[in-house]
Amino acid sequence: ARKVILDVDTGTDDAVAIMFAALHPDLDLLGVTTVNGNVPLENTTDNTLRVLDWIGCPGIPVHPGVPRPIVRRGFPGGRHFEQDDDHDPHGTALPIPAPRIAAQDTGAVEYLVETLRATAEQITLVAVGPLSNVATALAIDPSLAGAVEQLVVMGGGHAVANVTASAEFNIWADPEAASVVLSAGFDPLTLVTLDATHQALVPQTTCDALEGLGTPAGTAAARFISRRIAAYEQMAVAGNAAPVHDVVCTAYLVEPEVISTRSFPVEVETASPLTVGRTVIDTRPDSKSERNAHVALHADAARLNELLLTTFARDTAS
Ligand code: BDR
Ligand code: CA
Repeated sequence: ARKVILDVDTGTDDAVAIMFAALHPDLDLLGVTTVNGNVPLENTTDNTLRVLDWIGCPGIPVHPGVPRPIVRRGFPGGRHFEQDDDHDPHGTALPIPAPRIAAQDTGAVEYLVETLRATAEQITLVAVGPLSNVATALAIDPSLAGAVEQLVVMGGGHAVANVTASAEFNIWADPEAASVVLSAGFDPLTLVTLDATHQALVPQTTCDALEGLGTPAGTAAARFISRRIAAYEQMAVAGNAAPVHDVVCTAYLVEPEVISTRSFPVEVETASPLTVGRTVIDTRPDSKSERNAHVALHADAARLNELLLTTFARDTAS
């Protein structure tokens, strides 16, 4: 099985990605690192522990990470959707019981540096929150970029944005970190954008089928995704369906055809107040800039929905 470390800001869609990585037989989830993002660090860590406990995987270590962006101040995490609960696809605490397990004493950055540096095994790093942990690990040891087998990032967008008119949340929430990570030399670096995740919609019919599986993961996924569908409906983004961004990344690991990618030069805007956090994806065929990322702008919804159903039929909790 492919060895994976997941970096998350859990979050309903992160939660689905964690369950997928923990339960799919072709993936070996070595550990999970948490970061400030959808909710403050304390809550992303608590939510991550909830998910692993709920699906019967209490042994997968959770390492709490960086509580704020690497440069900017004033972003406390969470509630970037400045609406009431119905408009928030995450909430603060996930709607499953509080965890009976605890986080590790070793922080995320130390864990990433030690694990990626020490191991002769190839590890895929999947980062589906703001990139504060990964950028901090690189500041300690820049050679980490060459040590991982592949970096997969959920972030950015070309024709689609969410948190501002220009930017996607994960990149916007720590743009300097994103800039560091995208230019660090990870090869391959796969960037799964909003353009792709907004094509991989999960409809209410899949939620009903997930619920019908009767497994802990099926039940939880149905609950989390239904919440997202309700929120996205309010925002008039999708009809009776929602993107579940982060799970597109973990699904891609076992079935690459879930997305289609092309190599483009990508840079992150860090200066302009209007467009801060924008991923500038240079799609010009004759661009002379270095093609630093395999960018997913398309995804296959049918394949993703099918994979969710087969993976969450598994029940390690019993
Ligand atoms: C990304 O931002 C986070 O809120 C989600 O969990 C996802 O990783 C979508 O923009
Ligand atoms: Ca996330």
